[in-house]
Amino acid sequence: MGLKLVMYKVLVVVLVLLCSWVSGGTASVSYDSKAIIVNGQRRILISGSIHYPRSTPEMWPDLIQKAKEGGLDVIQTYVFWNGHEPQPGKYYFGGRYDLVKFISLVKQAGLYVHLRIGPYACAEWNFGGFPVWLKYVPGISFRTDNGPFKAAMQKFTTKIVNMMKVNKLYESQGGPIILSQIENEYGPMEYELGAPGRAYSKWAAQMAVGLRTGVPWVMCKQDDAPDPIINTCNGFYCDYFSPNKAYKPKIWTEAWTGWFTEFGGPVPSRPAEDLAFSVARFIQKGGSFINYYMYHGGTNFGRTAGGPFITTSYDYDAPLDEFGLLRQPKWGHLKDLHRAIKLCEPALVSGDSTVTPLGNYQEAHVFKSKSGACAAFLANYNSHSFAKVAFRNMHYNLPPWSISILPDCKNTVYNTARVGAQSAQMKMSPVRGGFSWQSYNEETASYDENSFTMVGLLEQINTTRDASDYLWYTTDVKIDRNEGFLKSGKWPVLSVLSAGHALHVFINGQLSGTIYGSLEYPKLTFSKGVNLRAGFNKITLLSIALGLPNIGPHFETWNAGVLGPVSLYGLNEGKRDLSWQKWTYKIGLKGEALGLHSLSGSSSVEWIEGLSVAQKQPLTWYKTTFNAPAGNEPLALDMNSMGKGQVWINGESIGRYWPGYKASGSCGACSYAGYFSEKKCLSNCGEASQRWYHVPRSWLNPTGNLLVVFEEWGGNPSGISLVKREVQSVCADIYEWQPTLVNWQLQSSGKVNKPLRPKAHLWCAPGQKISSIKFASFGTPEGVCGSYREGSCHAHHSYDAFYKYCIGQQSCSVTVAPAMFGGDPCPSVMKKLSVEAICG
Ligand code: GAL
Repeated sequence: MGLKLVMYKVLVVVLVLLCSWVSGGTASVSYDSKAIIVNGQRRILISGSIHYPRSTPEMWPDLIQKAKEGGLDVIQTYVFWNGHEPQPGKYYFGGRYDLVKFISLVKQAGLYVHLRIGPYACAEWNFGGFPVWLKYVPGISFRTDNGPFKAAMQKFTTKIVNMMKVNKLYESQGGPIILSQIENEYGPMEYELGAPGRAYSKWAAQMAVGLRTGVPWVMCKQDDAPDPIINTCNGFYCDYFSPNKAYKPKIWTEAWTGWFTEFGGPVPSRPAEDLAFSVARFIQKGGSFINYYMYHGGTNFGRTAGGPFITTSYDYDAPLDEFGLLRQPKWGHLKDLHRAIKLCEPALVSGDSTVTPLGNYQEAHVFKSKSGACAAFLANYNSHSFAKVAFRNMHYNLPPWSISILPDCKNTVYNTARVGAQSAQMKMSPVRGGFSWQSYNEETASYDENSFTMVGLLEQINTTRDASDYLWYTTDVKIDRNEGFLKSGKWPVLSVLSAGHALHVFINGQLSGTIYGSLEYPKLTFSKGVNLRAGFNKITLLSIALGLPNIGPHFETWNAGVLGPVSLYGLNEGKRDLSWQKWTYKIGLKGEALGLHSLSGSSSVEWIEGLSVAQKQPLTWYKTTFNAPAGNEPLALDMNSMGKGQVWINGESIGRYWPGYKASGSCGACSYAGYFSEKKCLSNCGEASQRWYHVPRSWLNPTGNLLVVFEEWGGNPSGISLVKREVQSVCADIYEWQPTLVNWQLQSSGKVNKPLRPKAHLWCAPGQKISSIKFASFGTPEGVCGSYREGSCHAHHSYDAFYKYCIGQQSCSVTVAPAMFGGDPCPSVMKKLSVEAICG
């Protein structure tokens, strides 16, 4: 062999090695600047987050199927460390935490998985996913260049990776996992921490890559992610984002479909038109992987909600609602978007793109491949006005803040602001109320052998280790007979400073006041005149934690509970500081220790029945039994008549409830056009932040289900009812000549050679039928689904076709053409059809 040949061969080997290193291993999954490459093919991949513990295993197949029907290729989830390792070295992978089962179901459905091992998750999950015991590992400091933390992180990450390998779940082994994630949004932390932050993120990257999963890793919001890790974007918009190396693909790991709700806050939602617009913007700028965070948000069962103050519902305004039902039109509008994008895939993954301005706020993004594929995106960024643009000798009308997709560079099949999918109004119909309740009074600070006395005030989390939300603090206060206030009647003022999150103050067993904070301000100050008597008085504080923080620099060090000072003002001596007295502590409630939420525990005490059942009384346990309602609609408890507490069914915790905390904020009209933020489209102001609490069907037996409620504030249990969630009505809002993919397919197949009218499609849920038409108007109707009204132009026969084709049917379609509604009511005006049909 000549020297040249040897050198050539060496060069080839080096190049191959280099390429495979850059593209994340020698696996069947790699990447280049354009896309993730699966089995040799560049792919435009649509992904959605479904967090397995936020639903039940019985719900998983249906959620995954609906995700697939919605046009998803990938399911993304975090791995929830605190669920899997509740105690050091004691692992749990059963029930809602059966990760292997979840991933296997995704595989069975023919979808891929993006596994975000973290193990830091954030996710509004208790402690961001870290087990509380981790905080007590000697010398630990979270998410930085710290030996004990890195050792624990490596151990858990390796455990998960090995588990995936043993079950052959990586794509390189024929499994569904095509991507992984290490850490989560570490960039901002690294910036704050400086050198140790940089050392840690480098270490994390190397540690992950060293696990040889055979599929690429990402780091989200991490601009300096070291090769071969791909840095990715999270946000409401990510079109501006570029990866840190030219040979990495542009990935959006969290396209926020809405936002989370906190107790005391209004409920956010994000218009489908704006979400679709943001996705189309990302694709037209060369993006090739989008993950909806969340696609199904689900429920923070038990005490899994983080924050603090995150609601039990993690609905997120996601395309699948908390209960697993389609949220329309969001689900359908995105499904249509995905089909339009997939039609462009050949041009997107192999083509070069050019951008041409079409006006001040308009541009065309054109992708052309060598094989002749051409796809175009025509964008109008103006959030106020329509734009008429010329593109390749044709004219296109672009609604404000929208993108039209032309998979053949000629015909529009989709516009992000023109929703062809139906909308649906949901209702919560009572199926059972008037439960016959029994009650049991939780004693105020029932101290027992587990209580202990110390000098001074203790931090709550260090004391409870998060075994319960509740920590009792009690101290004695001796009041001398000669105290002036005993004669003047001017009560001394008790002042209590607490690090959070809620507090009840009892004087001699009587509730004297309740205060609580918020996600933004968890700290509390109680200050009130208190009725003390001569001799010994008991001051009892019940401090309540509402989920541990999940985000922020060193959130593991944030305190909760009564840290003081605790003082009495207005005594003869002036102020008396109680902070350094002896305090007696008890972790948790007596009812918790007795296991009153469970079948066996609840029968261990005497409950009060009938007319003497406690009403509006703080610290009360309630129980009842009921039979499962027929049908398979999702169920919920309407807790609006209650204040604050927790609820269980057959021993399973539904979560914390708090309808007594009313949402404050500014709710109002919401336009899809213009940049969205989580503060933009809010509802429920002045009402409970969360009224309904999901009861998974699979937790019920046919008869004799035990429902247990612990009420802290005092509520009216006779107002509690079980409701089912179902479709109340469906609506369509279709413009005449609105482009549709189906019509384009008919035309491009040559079957039809004239312009086609769109159709309005209406579907009620399986088992339902359209019982009446609440509204129909072809012309210039106004309003939204649920509250349409006629505009100045209205075709008088607007209802006829719907009466004829829809009543008594589960679904129907009507062509949006003047002839269907008795002729054109206002020629030369742009018209649309709005229709609302009642399902029953
Ligand atoms: C992101 C984070 C997610 C989630 C989201 C807000 O920054 O990565 O885990 O917390 O914010 O819902």
